[in-house]
Amino acid sequence: MKILITGGAGFIGSHTIRLFVNKYPQYQIFNLDSLTYAGNLENLQDLETKTNYTFIKGDITDQPFIENLFKKHSFDGIIHLAAESHVDRSIENPMQFVLTNVIGTVNLLNAAQQQWAKDSEGKRFYHISTDEVYGSLGKEGYFTEETSYDPRSPYSASKASSDHFVRAYYHTYKLPVVLSNCSNNYGSHQFPEKLIPLCIHNIKNSHPIPVYGKGENIRDWLWVEDHARAIDTIFHNGKIGETYNIGGQNEWTNIDLVKLLCGIMDRKLHRKSGTSEKLITFVTDRKGHDLRYAIDSSKLQNELHWKPSLQFEEGLEKTVGWYLENEDWLNKVTSGEYRTYYEKQYTTR
Ligand code: NAD
Ligand code: DAU
Repeated sequence: MKILITGGAGFIGSHTIRLFVNKYPQYQIFNLDSLTYAGNLENLQDLETKTNYTFIKGDITDQPFIENLFKKHSFDGIIHLAAESHVDRSIENPMQFVLTNVIGTVNLLNAAQQQWAKDSEGKRFYHISTDEVYGSLGKEGYFTEETSYDPRSPYSASKASSDHFVRAYYHTYKLPVVLSNCSNNYGSHQFPEKLIPLCIHNIKNSHPIPVYGKGENIRDWLWVEDHARAIDTIFHNGKIGETYNIGGQNEWTNIDLVKLLCGIMDRKLHRKSGTSEKLITFVTDRKGHDLRYAIDSSKLQNELHWKPSLQFEEGLEKTVGWYLENEDWLNKVTSGEYRTYYEKQYTTR
């Protein structure tokens, strides 16, 4: 099997690539990534000598490039993770989200459709999406696969649009697609613009911890390696045309999560209990900030027998441990030094 994974140098993509390359030595795994600010090949340094892994630098919005890539390789499967993924950036620059998330996805759909037009037996286009497409919940209830779409940020609107295109290609052209919508991920290698690595970085350096509004918004957190396992399960066993929700059954208000993190950091950094909490600073709320996300993943659990493996406290402890042990990774990312890695590693080859 030749599998194209897009966005493999990012957070979830790198965990997915690692799982596939190590678990399926008989597959050829191609990682297509344009290395935006969020793409970091150092995330995959351990795989560079693997013979079943190839990195391709390229942009999913570049139509001729994508067409040529598909002509060159006959892919059997596509796992599409490449995206602009940060809500705050989407509020600043919505158009980049339309280009990457909508147009980039449609380029890939067109290329797959052309490649598999005559024979799509055993082929699969797997689109990775987010729970944010369902909008915002009140204090009660869960998102199921039947929940109506109600995206409320430019990011979630662009992901919702890409989901609709993927389903449209299934219905119109019989493209063999499968989709999943996942809740908030946490774990190693996440870019420190997102809440958890940002807090870890700021606490470590005794900088203020910016909590939006009153910190009352709720997210459902899932360990990233559990998401990668779900992607493996759905790619291999999900039914064509279907959508699966993935979540951690693990809801936290932002303020409780930040306080939990402060406690872990105090302990690990041998600081007096309560030291890090003093850094909490309430700042202006995110525009249109969704109140609560919570996923009902019973379809995936009952039909495909996946379930989260880690308790949150254990996962967060591991996550903090990783960032503290990999200070160099965090320093290079925050200083921008990681961006020279590709030139050093690849252009001289
Ligand atoms: P990320 O921002 O860490 O990584 C995105 C990757 O895509 C980067 O490596 C980047 O270089 C690459 N990329 C961006 N634009 C590209 C382009 N035009 N061409 C090729 N590559 C490009 O994102 P992430 O958090 O790992 O999210 C991956 C996917 O999972 C996204 O589709 C996101 O919507 C979805 N998702 C994320 C979460 C989460 O909590 N992070 C939850 C549910 C779903
Ligand atoms: O739900 C899945 C989504 O989770 C993914 O689709 C997105 O790609 C991913 O970025 C994430 O979106 P969120 O907006 O929920 O994640 P973020 O880490 O940006 O914020 C988590 C919560 O913390 C949110 O309520 C906003 C708040 N926050 C965030 C930052 C960066 C703060 O209070 N302070 C901050 O500095």
